Amino acid sequence: MSEPSDRNDRIDPTDLVEQADAAYVRGKTEDALRMYIALLEANPANLHLWYRTAMLLGKLGDAAAAARHLDLAATRLAETGQLLLALAAVQELGRYDEEAKAERLRGIAALYGKGSSRLDVRRRSLPPPLPERVAGTTAATREVTDVRVLREMALDACESAARRWAEAPPPGKVGFHPLFSDLSPAELVAVEPLLQLRMLPAGEVVIEQGAEGRSFFVLVQGSVRVSRIAPDGETTQLARLRAGSFFGEMALLTDSPRVAQVTCETDVLVFELDRAALDQLAARSGQIARVLASYTRERLLHNLMATSPLFRPLDPGRRESLVQLFESVVLGPGEPVVAEGQASQRLYVVLSGSVLVTQGEGPEQLTLAELGPGQIFGEISLIKDRPATATVRAVGKTVLLSLTRDAFNRHVSQFPEVLAHVYRVALEREETNLQLAASEPVDVEEELLI
Ligand code: CMP
Repeated sequence: MSEPSDRNDRIDPTDLVEQADAAYVRGKTEDALRMYIALLEANPANLHLWYRTAMLLGKLGDAAAAARHLDLAATRLAETGQLLLALAAVQELGRYDEEAKAERLRGIAALYGKGSSRLDVRRRSLPPPLPERVAGTTAATREVTDVRVLREMALDACESAARRWAEAPPPGKVGFHPLFSDLSPAELVAVEPLLQLRMLPAGEVVIEQGAEGRSFFVLVQGSVRVSRIAPDGETTQLARLRAGSFFGEMALLTDSPRVAQVTCETDVLVFELDRAALDQLAARSGQIARVLASYTRERLLHNLMATSPLFRPLDPGRRESLVQLFESVVLGPGEPVVAEGQASQRLYVVLSGSVLVTQGEGPEQLTLAELGPGQIFGEISLIKDRPATATVRAVGKTVLLSLTRDAFNRHVSQFPEVLAHVYRVALEREETNLQLAASEPVDVEEELLI
């Protein structure tokens, strides 16, 4: 790290922490440790720096000191509401001292588990905004290369953090964690081995849109961006998630491909849980299953409103009132929802999964389109009041929103943009279908996508 330049004589401390974290994530242990030591000396109350310094002390071979300070840092992290980071520190502690880990874990579980008198159920357990404010320092420029000296300096910095925390006021209440605080302390202890800590560099794609979902992630530190890439390549940012949030639950819960891409915005620490672990977690607590299901529903609706051409033209308040008019329908793989030639009385929007639109039967059958999240169907028969022009069935497990003809007629006139979209789609599709009927079958899937 260089001395501050004349042009800019202030150091941005956030940058320093980021630089230290970046060196650490990329395996440059000694470089990272030099920076953490300097930062911790200047900020002995910063728990993130204490935890990382203690961790690297262990990597440089001082197991006993690492265990002592990881234990202390884990305690303080838990006391200050940072349950996830406390669990990460406890896992690291386990590398050096299994017994100390087990004891600390029991303490944390008693603090955050069901029935804890120190749990404030009205407050969500979220870490303070990261990175915490830290003082800038130039001391990191000390080019210590002797590992023994580096270890001593790390230990000194950890000891001053321990002294600083020994003077801290008695701990207060901690916030409720929506995933873990509904578990009994014993269950929370049993869940810990299911959490696989992973460290990912900024820019890494954690989840590929469209991929099969195998695991679920809880964000311990850092932030990620969630975006949807449309078939034409247009990218819509759906959300930015910070430490404490989780993602990747939708594919597992709905048994459908990943609905969005998730990319690390900063270097991040995540706990990864595979499908079996998530099932175990949900089986241990009905509340966890409910929390995950309600997030999934809310996120699906949010995405629908942000990306569907039906809802996008409306301002957020009107989107909400339009979506309220719809009912949800869940289909199993292959299940039909509209049958060609029969009266169809509803407008449908795909919420998750996809549907296949076909005309005719047997060898004559023509595939008109596969429609995914945000796309509508049922509009032609609804508008023209005549039998359905095609059969529509779910590809895999699919969730739809549906609006009855009655509700459409009664309410949709208040949403002229929506009406215009539905009519436009109906006209375009009818025209394409006429052309298709008059020509040899061609692959028109692309054109039919809205
Ligand atoms: P999944 O579909 O398994 O993979 C992509 C993940 O992005 C998805 O699960 C959700 O966890 C997350 N995600 C999708 N949409 C949103 C949203 N609107 N807000 C927050 N997270 C989302």
